Amino acid sequence: MLLLGQVVLSLLSLSGWNAKPTLDNPQQHPIGVDSAPKSIAIVGAGSAGIAVLKTILDLPEERRANWRLVLFEQRSDVGGVWLPDPDEPNPPTLPETPLYPLLRTNTPHPTMTYPGFPFPPNTPLFPSHEHVKRYHSDVASKLNLTQYIQLNSEVYAAGWRGNSTHGKWEVESHRYNHRTGRKRVTRDTFDHLIVANGHNHYPRVPDFDGTDEWLANPTTGGQKRELLHSIFYREPGRYTNQTVLVVGAGASGRDAASQVGLNAKKTYHSLKPNSTLITLEPLPYVDTVGLISHFTKDSIVLEDGTVLTDVDSVILATGYQFLVPFLSRSPSPDIPAILSISPTTNYTSDTAPSLQTNTRYIYPLHSHIFSLSPTHPPTALSFVGLPVLIANCPSDIAQSLLIAHALLNPSVLPTKRDMLSQLLQQEDRLRERGYDPYVAGHKMVGGDDDAQAYQDALVRYLKEKGSLPNDGKNFVEQWRRDARKDSFLLRRAWLRIEAAGQEEVERWLRGVESEDEWAELLSRLAAWQREWEDENGGISVSVGDDYWEADY
Ligand SMILES: Cc1cc2nc3c(=O)[nH]c(=O)nc-3n(C[C@H](O)[C@H](O)[C@H](O)COP(=O)(O)OP(=O)(O)OC[C@H]3O[C@@H](n4cnc5c(N)ncnc54)[C@H](O)[C@@H]3O)c2cc1C
Ligand SMILES: *[C@@H]1O[C@H](CO)[C@@H](O)[C@H](O)[C@H]1NC(C)=O
Ligand SMILES: *[C@@H]1O[C@H](CO)[C@@H](O)[C@H](O)[C@H]1NC(C)=O
Ligand SMILES: *[C@@H]1O[C@H](CO)[C@@H](O)[C@H](O)[C@H]1NC(C)=O
Ligand SMILES: *[C@@H]1O[C@H](CO)[C@@H](O)[C@H](O)[C@H]1NC(C)=O
Ligand SMILES: *[C@@H]1O[C@H](CO)[C@@H](O)[C@H](O)[C@H]1NC(C)=O
Repeated sequence: MLLLGQVVLSLLSLSGWNAKPTLDNPQQHPIGVDSAPKSIAIVGAGSAGIAVLKTILDLPEERRANWRLVLFEQRSDVGGVWLPDPDEPNPPTLPETPLYPLLRTNTPHPTMTYPGFPFPPNTPLFPSHEHVKRYHSDVASKLNLTQYIQLNSEVYAAGWRGNSTHGKWEVESHRYNHRTGRKRVTRDTFDHLIVANGHNHYPRVPDFDGTDEWLANPTTGGQKRELLHSIFYREPGRYTNQTVLVVGAGASGRDAASQVGLNAKKTYHSLKPNSTLITLEPLPYVDTVGLISHFTKDSIVLEDGTVLTDVDSVILATGYQFLVPFLSRSPSPDIPAILSISPTTNYTSDTAPSLQTNTRYIYPLHSHIFSLSPTHPPTALSFVGLPVLIANCPSDIAQSLLIAHALLNPSVLPTKRDMLSQLLQQEDRLRERGYDPYVAGHKMVGGDDDAQAYQDALVRYLKEKGSLPNDGKNFVEQWRRDARKDSFLLRRAWLRIEAAGQEEVERWLRGVESEDEWAELLSRLAAWQREWEDENGGISVSVGDDYWEADY
């Protein structure tokens, strides 16, 4: 016992625990509270939810001994978007994931890992989706996370019964029994709610004029015309004999266009004029066209005046909305819903009476993580995985570290007043650079440099506060920075190796096992490809922000 006590004490002094409660920081608790009972609900078992569960469990065991942790996952397994849907999509019912059979990663897998947990040996560098799913399952089982994960359990509504300093979450969850088709409704309370529900689930569908009239007309072949969001896209073979228009310059639009292009009679890809991705790898069977203006009974009219009369199907790879339905629903008539949805951006971060989403931006949040809603304390509600244009697993871990340490000791965070003024400054800095923060939302608009600076800053903050040992290093290792920058070069290299045959693939992967060895492989591969492109006139690519995100 004595030994344990000493460990706890030395950890407490490490984390700068002796700060005094202040009026500005009413969450401050007396010494010892971190081992006090606490209940935490996490929603979602994709990359983000697994990251936060793992990070909390990595805290010294004696400091979280009395914490109750439940991770709710509505689906039948972990993996989030990487877990295939068991059924064919049946629009307009939303499928469980946008995953399609031909999906491969568009980033090399060593950059998609939780630091210290590489993919298994022999994994192709740009693997198909099964590998990514298996990676998540392996992490969950090897790290003994499964005992905390309640599958087939949807968080249906969560509301805060309390005030700005005290209270509890009331959570209504629905547990499905797929065999009997029944659901069991459960009500429970939690001190903290961590939202990791992903942001590729609620399609953003632009509101073009004339779509009803266009859809009412049959195709030239006498079939029903179709206008679907890419979340429903699965098999390119079903577009055989059709003329298809794919909309959107993001990764989904590009994948759909290239796959449909090999099958359809004709494929158009609608992009912003001068879109930079065109120089990446031209798609041989795809005609690039401009953005859509509107639809008529017989045609699709583009902004440049072009009229397309032959289109049978439209695939809208136009991105997704940031929504959290269970926070916009109250579990009880006497508590208001926490999250208001208003595409018109009715409030700003400093005037919002509770949490808001304009479908692109959830606000006000500290560092895209803690809710600064006036209705509850910041550690009551946090988000993991909101940032986009970022390598998500490492970023999820950086965010989770801040959450875990703020749960241990809420005074690690600045006062709510300070966090709010930091947020307003951050929004102003974006405006100075020409971005509307309420449109840019959670995008790391400055590209990789911003994305890495964001993660580094979260972890550096914890080191400065004494919550983590200060090793003077950046959180994002240099090899991850290099690999992000070389992502497309590496992809071209890997395609060359695959084209050379299985033996070449095996030769490059032989003996590569540890994270360091994967990092070394990436740098060797980049150098090999760079040399080849220098000699053979490779494609020089500058990739704009719009590569990752849709145009609408
Ligand atoms: C088609 C596609 C391809 C991609 N390719 C790449 C790539 O190559 N490289 C890359 O780095 N990234 C890629 N991404 C980005 C991808 O989103 C991230 O890699 C990551 O998987 C996101 O994880 P997440 O945990 O944030 O969200 P998700 O994976 O969406 O997980 C959220 C989980 O929360 C659950 N959930 C939601 N609401 C509730 C509720 N109310 N109750 C209970 N459970 C709930 C969901 O069922 C889901 O399991 C791709 C995304 C898509 C859609
Ligand atoms: C997981 O649990 C097993 C059995 O209890 C144990 O042997 C193993 O060390 C645990 N692994 C981790 C990473 O905690
Ligand atoms: C919040 O509720 C707690 C517990 O009911 C109470 O002690 C406290 O005074 C309340 N604070 C405010 C600001 O109303
Ligand atoms: C495509 O058209 C050809 C020629 O009309 C026809 O033979 C074939 O069955 C069609 N394929 C599909 C999948 O409709
Ligand atoms: C596209 O590029 C051309 C030639 O560089 C330029 O004249 C035109 O203004 C650009 N269009 C847009 C919409 O940026
Ligand atoms: C936001 O403002 C619009 C226009 O004033 C209004 O119609 C809408 O109801 C408001 N939404 C919310 C959630 O307050």
